[in-house]
Amino acid sequence: MTLTAPHPAPPKYQSLAEHYRGAIQAGSLRPGQRMPSLRELMRQHGVSLSTTLQICRLLESEGWLEARPRSGYFVRPAVATRLAPVNDPPMQRAPDPAQYVGIHAKVSEFLALGRLQRFKTNLSVARCAPELYPAQALQQAALRSLRQDPSQLVRAAPPQGCLEFREVLAQRALAAGMRLSANDIQITNGCTEALNLALRAVANPGDTIAVESPTFYGLLQTLESLGLKALEIPTSPRTGISVDAVELALRNSPGIKAVVVVPYLQNPTGSIMPSAHKQALLRLCQQHDVALVEDDTYSALVDEAVLREDPLRAIKSWDDSGHVVYCASLHKSLAPGLRLGWVSAGRWQARVEMLKFAASRSNERLAQMSAAGFIASAAYERYLRRLRTTLATQRTQTAQAVARYFPPGTKLTVPRGGLSLWVELPDGLSATALFHAALAENMVIAPGTIFTNSHRFDSNLRVNVGWPFTPEVEHAFARLGQLVDTLATLPVEPRSLLKK
Ligand SMILES: Cc1ncc(COP(=O)(O)O)c(C=O)c1O
Repeated sequence: MTLTAPHPAPPKYQSLAEHYRGAIQAGSLRPGQRMPSLRELMRQHGVSLSTTLQICRLLESEGWLEARPRSGYFVRPAVATRLAPVNDPPMQRAPDPAQYVGIHAKVSEFLALGRLQRFKTNLSVARCAPELYPAQALQQAALRSLRQDPSQLVRAAPPQGCLEFREVLAQRALAAGMRLSANDIQITNGCTEALNLALRAVANPGDTIAVESPTFYGLLQTLESLGLKALEIPTSPRTGISVDAVELALRNSPGIKAVVVVPYLQNPTGSIMPSAHKQALLRLCQQHDVALVEDDTYSALVDEAVLREDPLRAIKSWDDSGHVVYCASLHKSLAPGLRLGWVSAGRWQARVEMLKFAASRSNERLAQMSAAGFIASAAYERYLRRLRTTLATQRTQTAQAVARYFPPGTKLTVPRGGLSLWVELPDGLSATALFHAALAENMVIAPGTIFTNSHRFDSNLRVNVGWPFTPEVEHAFARLGQLVDTLATLPVEPRSLLKK
């Protein structure tokens, strides 16, 4: 029995558009290739001329096709071929010395400024628009759960988390190659709590943790709050952390207690680590007996086309020594309102459970049972497929807007999934200056400097693609492009004054 109201079948033109969108994403129809003609489409699918026109116009409006006068529709050149991707850093550079983070004030200032007003356009977050999440299906799952167990609001949940929820998560973990039992899982308050517990379990104040650079600013805040030092390791926007640089660091800095990585859709660059890198990193951590904290916040959002080529594989799936502490979350992929995450901590599992109990006791029961009900249904996988396709479309539209409106020399990395793009402004222009200029016009972006404790990435910005690409969003990109042009005309001194 499904937990959602049956969806009416989509109109024919939408399901055919979905078919051709999938073909473009999978590479069966390549950039520059001609779409079948309208006549061929009519014959092949037994549809009318107006339906075939609807298909092509929809795909054109989403940025997958372009119409060429008197020649028909063609697959648009991939955006990445029109703007160069952001370069890799020197991957074998010895990392800067480990340091206590001290970024909290900077990040808090950015966040506070970003929250000051209701912004017309907020491109700074990494989250989907609420309407992309399955509110109705979750509501039904919650009501069903309350009907089945009306007393659940007045009974405490087990400290480790509800068994039903942990069982569902253990089943889902099989798809990424992990064989876990419900007992291997601790439910947490999002991935943030999972990471906090992981780091407290494997390290003590004063220890060093190797992290990707750039990295998710929340991780830097967590390290700072725990009195840990961050060692920033060069990270490629394509392939993730430099395993060579981690090796160098582990040989030269004996105080490292853990390496934290986001193998799928790293935040902020969107990189995906190749399997060989994941295995090499695991071997290194095992040899040096340090924890490998695997942050898997985003793998549910990897593009369908990537999944067809290369099924998901968590680093933990190769771990036979218990060195991997796997942390995950439903915050980005299912329900920001539920604040649910989980951790499977290998050899540190008992300590993580003890720390969770000491810190915050159990998570609330209704949220876990609602999520369990929906995830166990067939509707969950259908929902995820829809979400990935929608995000792929929004990503293409947003990337095209950057290519259209930002000045020549801008670099753009378009990740193969997820919620953001990683941009680099030309000529060393400051994205911090752009942040302040945009703020004055009711727009928020995430400047690169909040993703590091160093002085790097001032020319980078992360842009959210989780919002539908409306005319307002397009207008915001047009205006941002003009602001970048204006920055380029300023002499160097005022430019850096704008940096604050
Ligand atoms: C890589 C990464 N890890 C962890 C988190 C925090 O996750 P949660 O919201 O589940 O606490 C985020 C949120 O942006 C993230 O990008």
